[in-house]
Amino acid sequence: MPMVSMRQVLDEAAKGGYGVGAFNVNNMEQIQAIMEAARETKSPAIVQASRGARSYTNDRFLYHLMMAAVELYPEIPIVLHQDHGNSPETCKSAIDMGFTSVMMDGSLMPDGKTPADFEYNVRVTKEVCEMAHERGVTVEGELGTLGGIEDGHGADVDPMSHLTDPDQAVEFVERTGIDALAVAIGTSHGAYKFSKKPTGEVLVMSRIEEIHRKLPNCHMVMHGSSSVPQDLQDIINKYGGQMKQTYGVPVEEIQRGIKNGVRKINVDTDSRMAITGAIRKVFVEHPEHFDPRDYLKPARAAMQAVVKARMLAFGQAGHAGDYEPIPLASFAEYYKQQPVAV
Ligand code: G3H
Ligand code: 13P
Ligand code: ZN
Repeated sequence: MPMVSMRQVLDEAAKGGYGVGAFNVNNMEQIQAIMEAARETKSPAIVQASRGARSYTNDRFLYHLMMAAVELYPEIPIVLHQDHGNSPETCKSAIDMGFTSVMMDGSLMPDGKTPADFEYNVRVTKEVCEMAHERGVTVEGELGTLGGIEDGHGADVDPMSHLTDPDQAVEFVERTGIDALAVAIGTSHGAYKFSKKPTGEVLVMSRIEEIHRKLPNCHMVMHGSSSVPQDLQDIINKYGGQMKQTYGVPVEEIQRGIKNGVRKINVDTDSRMAITGAIRKVFVEHPEHFDPRDYLKPARAAMQAVVKARMLAFGQAGHAGDYEPIPLASFAEYYKQQPVAV
């Protein structure tokens, strides 16, 4: 089947009361890991690429790898999503290349680091909605700011001081016309989210419940949702890595979010850790090896195992065959009928 709109995948998830993992990719092995996990679990798949990933793959490699996924996994609804678009231009270039969904992250300025004000966020997000919806492409916006990332996109802020305000969320959704809202609830991108297992004070799941009460039909997105599993930290450190002890977002908390309107869950760090641990293990146990396949195969399998576990935990397993793809052109028609955002 052709790539599908993320709106369709999230609407279906809302009907079925489940969440869908959105996994970041930078290369063939990561795409293969996601697609194999989706096939094993019969799950719809959201594959997402950051600006860094698009630059790393020179865009065209990414595009053709995704075309291979579409050809080789015809039974899986696949979304290709721009993660953290920093400007309308970035979102436009993604749409031109065939992405079926884009995130306009107007919570930050185009440098991807400086927190932006509300009016700027509304303006750029609305602009992207108008451009994307004309072509049936889904738009995710973000309100509130996540904590920092070691590299790449993210603000160096205390995540607790930039939580999503529920009343502002209502205004934001109404004024922009977005399909999905990324919320800030105290988490951060990257591995170093919490210095101990998070309690309700540092991971404010109650915000999600509050926003859901005010916006019951809005699909919410949880960024920074890696669980940073202890066993992956241990493998990395056992084989020569130097990760400091850290804690991620417990899967049970994500499941609580899913019961309260979270439909898309962003995971990158856990995949990175699975890959790194597997490669380190081969390097230490088989220093004589030098064929990249000797370490990339276990790396791919390790990522597949993490993605499969998340697909099962989020409830998307078994839902790949529930629906026929709706063409993007039909979504474009649908958006035309909606009241114009003000
Ligand atoms: O949002 C952050 C994702 O983990 C992507 O990270 O910008 O280093 O590719 P990146
Ligand atoms: P993690 O760093 O927790 O995997 O978050 C990824 C993310 O939010 C990508 O947008
Ligand atoms: Zn993110």
